[in-house]
Amino acid sequence: MLRYGTPSEVLALEEVATAEPGSGEVRIRVSSITLNFNDLDAMHGRYQTIPLVPPYTPGMEVLGWVEACGPGAEAWMGRRVVAIPTGAQGGYAEAVIASTTMMFEMPTDVPEPEAAAIYMPFHLAWLGLHERGRLQAGETLLVHAGAGGIGSAAVQLGALAGARVIATAGSAQKLALCQALGAEVVIDYRNADFVDAVLDATDGRGVDVAFDTIGGAVTRSTFTCMAFNGRHLMVGFSAGIEAEDTGIVPRPIVFGNLSLCGVCLAYVDDPRQAKQARNGYNFPSHADGEEIHARLLDLVHQGKVRPLVGLELPFASLPAGLEALQRRETVGRVVVRLSDGAKGVAVHRLI
Ligand SMILES: NC(=O)c1ccc[n+]([C@@H]2O[C@H](COP(=O)([O-])OP(=O)(O)OC[C@H]3O[C@@H](n4cnc5c(N)ncnc54)[C@H](OP(=O)(O)O)[C@@H]3O)[C@@H](O)[C@H]2O)c1
Repeated sequence: MLRYGTPSEVLALEEVATAEPGSGEVRIRVSSITLNFNDLDAMHGRYQTIPLVPPYTPGMEVLGWVEACGPGAEAWMGRRVVAIPTGAQGGYAEAVIASTTMMFEMPTDVPEPEAAAIYMPFHLAWLGLHERGRLQAGETLLVHAGAGGIGSAAVQLGALAGARVIATAGSAQKLALCQALGAEVVIDYRNADFVDAVLDATDGRGVDVAFDTIGGAVTRSTFTCMAFNGRHLMVGFSAGIEAEDTGIVPRPIVFGNLSLCGVCLAYVDDPRQAKQARNGYNFPSHADGEEIHARLLDLVHQGKVRPLVGLELPFASLPAGLEALQRRETVGRVVVRLSDGAKGVAVHRLI
C-alpha cells in the first residue's frame, strides 16, 4: 500500500524477495487471504490498535502451508494453518511471516474457502459470547450486523448455546441470511428503530447480551434496550473506529444496571509476562486458543456451525472485494483465493 486511501487507488502489485522467519515464527505459503474490516480501517489510516504506516503490505488473516520455520517453530513445518501474521500485516501476498502464537492448525478435511472463514469470526465470537458475555441458554442475545463476517459467527454460536437470537442487518437479503443462521427475530436497522423492535420482541425487558461490532450511535441506542444485568460486548466500530478513542459516558451504564465488556482477540504465549508491558492489555494464552480452536473445529466437523463465505475472488480482484466490504455489500467473509502451489523465491504482494 503506497499511501492511505481507497483500496483501488492505493494498492499496487509488487514483486519482492521472500522474508525469513525469526525465532518462534514461520513462513506461510498463502492459499487464501481473508479480508477484514480492520484492513480497511488501516488502509484509511484510522486503525490505532497497530498503527501501520505506508508503504506496507496489508492483510491480517491467511490460510496456507508452513514452508519455512524459525528457531523454536520447527514442529510446524509442512502443516496447514490459519494465522494472523506478525504485526497484523503482510497477508496480501503469496508468502507471509507469522508467529506461532497467533497461528492454529487447519485440518485438510475442511475445504477452501470455508477453512479461511473460521479463525477470526469464530474465535472472536466465542471469546465474546462465552468468556466475556457468559451467555446462558434461555437468554436473549442481540447481534448487530448479523450477516457480516464476525456477526454471522456470533448468530450461529449464540443459537447453538441455546440463546434466543435477535439480529440486525442492513438489507432484506442479509435478514434472510440471519434467519437461516438461527436468528429468531431479525430487524433492518437501516429502516426501522431497532430499539423499539427489540423491546417489542422481548416484551419490554431488553436483551441479556448484546454483541456490538458497530459503535457510535448504534452503541448508545443499544444501551437503552439492555435487560437488567445485561452484558454489552464492545467488539468493533464499523460505523467509525474513531469511537474507540472517545470518552464513554458512564450514566447509561450506571443507570442501566448493565456491564460493559470489552472484547479483543489476540493470543500471547504467557499472559503474566505480557502484563509486564503495563499497557493494560489482557489477552488469553495460545494454549487457551488451542482449546477454543479444537471446540470450534469439532462444531464445524459436526456441521453445527457453518463458516460463511459470501464472496470468493481471485487475487487481482482483492481491491474490489475490499470496496464491496466498505460499501456494506458483503455477507460473511470475503476470501481471496491464490492459485495453488505458486512456488519460488519471488513473492508477489500487494503493497
Ligand atoms: N475486537 C476484535 O478483536 C475484533 C477483531 C476482528 C474484527 N473486529 C471488528 O468486527 C467488526 C466486523 O468485522 P468484519 O470484518 O466481520 O466486517 P463485516 O461485519 O463483515 O462488515 C461490516 C458490516 O458492518 C455493518 N455496518 C454498520 N454500520 C456500518 C458503517 N457505517 N460502515 C460500514 N459498515 C457498517 C454492515 O452490515 P449491515 O449492512 O448489515 O449493517 C457491514 O456489512 C469490525 O468493526 C471489526 O473491526 C474486532
